[in-house]
Amino acid sequence: MTTALITGATAGIGAAFARRLASQGHNLVLVARDTARLREQATELHDRHGIEAEVLSADLSTDAGIEAVAKRLADRTHPVDLLVNNAGFGNKGRYLEVPMADELTMLKVHCEAVLRLTSAATAGMKERGRGGVINVASVAAFVPRGTYGASKAWVVQFTQGAAKDLAGSGVRLMALCPGFVRTEFHERAGMGTGNIPGWMWLDADKLVATALADLARGKSVSVPDPRYKALMGLVKVTPRGLLGGVTSRTGRKYGPQ
Ligand SMILES: NC(=O)c1ccc[n+]([C@@H]2O[C@H](COP(=O)([O-])OP(=O)(O)OC[C@H]3O[C@@H](n4cnc5c(N)ncnc54)[C@H](OP(=O)(O)O)[C@@H]3O)[C@@H](O)[C@H]2O)c1
Repeated sequence: MTTALITGATAGIGAAFARRLASQGHNLVLVARDTARLREQATELHDRHGIEAEVLSADLSTDAGIEAVAKRLADRTHPVDLLVNNAGFGNKGRYLEVPMADELTMLKVHCEAVLRLTSAATAGMKERGRGGVINVASVAAFVPRGTYGASKAWVVQFTQGAAKDLAGSGVRLMALCPGFVRTEFHERAGMGTGNIPGWMWLDADKLVATALADLARGKSVSVPDPRYKALMGLVKVTPRGLLGGVTSRTGRKYGPQ
């Protein structure tokens, strides 16, 4: 039986990974900050699917939180076969409206934690000659979309570079780039979603099924929906100056500060 560790496992895309992997018989290590919610989720997944679900409460915006998860990933006696670096969030506001402390927290969770956890996991995976890492980025990585998009661009570049360096080792790395997904993300960030057209919304469970199939196929970047694949094709041939207005406005309406 294999084990998957998922960060940000309690809600949205992370919870969809947990449901899917549990239904396929994988044991899980569930990571987030809300311990009560983690315990409830672990019990439910154990009862429904008969898998072992460990709870690891950690705040990935802190060194202590990152170190606790890295320690679990480096435990050679209980190896983790699949790491899903999914925890993430959006800040409320555009560039210069967001306090610098919040910008730095985003870099810590989206970039530093992803680097340190990927490294902690892949060292052991390389020795064993097998394993996988999914780093959840966003299609925002490919367009001008504030510091959020910049952090996700780092995730894509890092993951592709590491995948190349580990090619042939048996370890697969993939950046997952979803479009808009109905989760708690926008509400937590205080973002209005009124100007996002209905067709742009993705379902988390379908997204996760496609992502896991893409990892199995050996992709290093997954844009898991034909609508967004077509959009990203258009983005590639559109001058960047024209992209800025459209891509930075959609879904970035903020309520009162
Ligand atoms: N929803 C979208 O439209 C969308 C689109 C593209 C990419 N994404 C990316 O997908 C990922 C998941 O987002 P989501 O939409 O599923 O969001 P979500 O529903 O808000 O869930 C976020 C999860 O991350 C955890 N989390 C947040 N901050 C954390 C921290 N400091 N330490 C540990 N865990 C933390 C939360 O649990 P706790 O609060 O208990 O810690 C929760 O389990 C993110 O990386 C996001 O950037 C989302």
